[in-house]
Amino acid sequence: MSQKKRILSGMRPTGPLHLGNLLGALANWVKMQDDYECFFFIADWHALTSDYDNTEPIINNRKEIMIDWLSAGLTPEKSTLFVQSQVKEHAEFFLLLTMITPVPWLERNPTYKEQIGELTNKDLSTFGFLGYPVLQAADIIIYKPYGVPVGVDQAPHVEITREIARRFNHFYGNVFPEPATILTETPKILGIDRRKMSKSYNNAIFLSDSPKEISAKVSRMITDPQRMRRSDPGNPDVCNVFDFHKLYTDPQMVKEIDEQCRTAGIGCVECKQKMAQGLITALEPIREKRAYYESQPDLVDDIMTEGSNRARRAAQETMEEVRAAIKI
Ligand code: TRP
Ligand code: SF4
Repeated sequence: MSQKKRILSGMRPTGPLHLGNLLGALANWVKMQDDYECFFFIADWHALTSDYDNTEPIINNRKEIMIDWLSAGLTPEKSTLFVQSQVKEHAEFFLLLTMITPVPWLERNPTYKEQIGELTNKDLSTFGFLGYPVLQAADIIIYKPYGVPVGVDQAPHVEITREIARRFNHFYGNVFPEPATILTETPKILGIDRRKMSKSYNNAIFLSDSPKEISAKVSRMITDPQRMRRSDPGNPDVCNVFDFHKLYTDPQMVKEIDEQCRTAGIGCVECKQKMAQGLITALEPIREKRAYYESQPDLVDDIMTEGSNRARRAAQETMEEVRAAIKI
């Protein structure tokens, strides 16, 4: 038996992963693989809560994300990588948890209120969308993890999960530990238009982008908005390109760029080209692995199937306990 503490986290397959996802979650997961017993899954049922009218892309996104994961360094040798819909126990457990979850807990969920307000072009007045955190609670506690690494946006969901676990224990006996929220820092880098990097804003640099695409995107990046002309001095402290430099450029050069920017010694075009070089180099190993997995589609399917089989065995064990506790 593994002595390591167990963690679990998931992502919805809404599209290919970008640098924000890599720096905000994935890179962290890759590191955690050595210190924890890790379960990472693709929450394809959760994708349906908002995209129930457009389900076709989900299959493809699922596979692309698994390829992104493997390319970034998640590996089935260290972690259980699986697909939510391939472990039907999540659905049974979700049903049971809906019986004990008070609706007001869901109605006051900040993420719910925010999304209902924002995504006005979609009808989200569904049972499934309201119940999103209950499914997430099922995903989590069915594996009895010590903790859940998530960004701050998901913290309310983990909080509801703890409340649901407590309520289950209250009615049916002490079956579940309350999972901790392991907060992942969100990266400082923004999308190329200076808004939060997001696939839906069309401002993202994807892990799957070619060097050409990366260069083209970087050349379109908004820099210091006050710097209109090449002869104007710039301010790297407010420049998104500079934040990228800090991650992807050799520190000595970053110092030089800092000075040259402030004295108009370097223009943004040249500055961006330097940054693009560093970024392209940093993503090279990911691109190489991606090419490998793309050439082996069956291998990726096998990884998902085997991971799901492994996860299912753990989920089944818990469900035995759950059914016994509920006496059904
Ligand atoms: N709601 C999460 C997200 O968007 C995805 C998710 C579903 C999840 N179930 C989970 C994350 C369980 C952590 C644990 O991004
Ligand atoms: Fe930003 Fe570089 Fe232009 Fe300065 S020179 S404003 S750091 S892109």
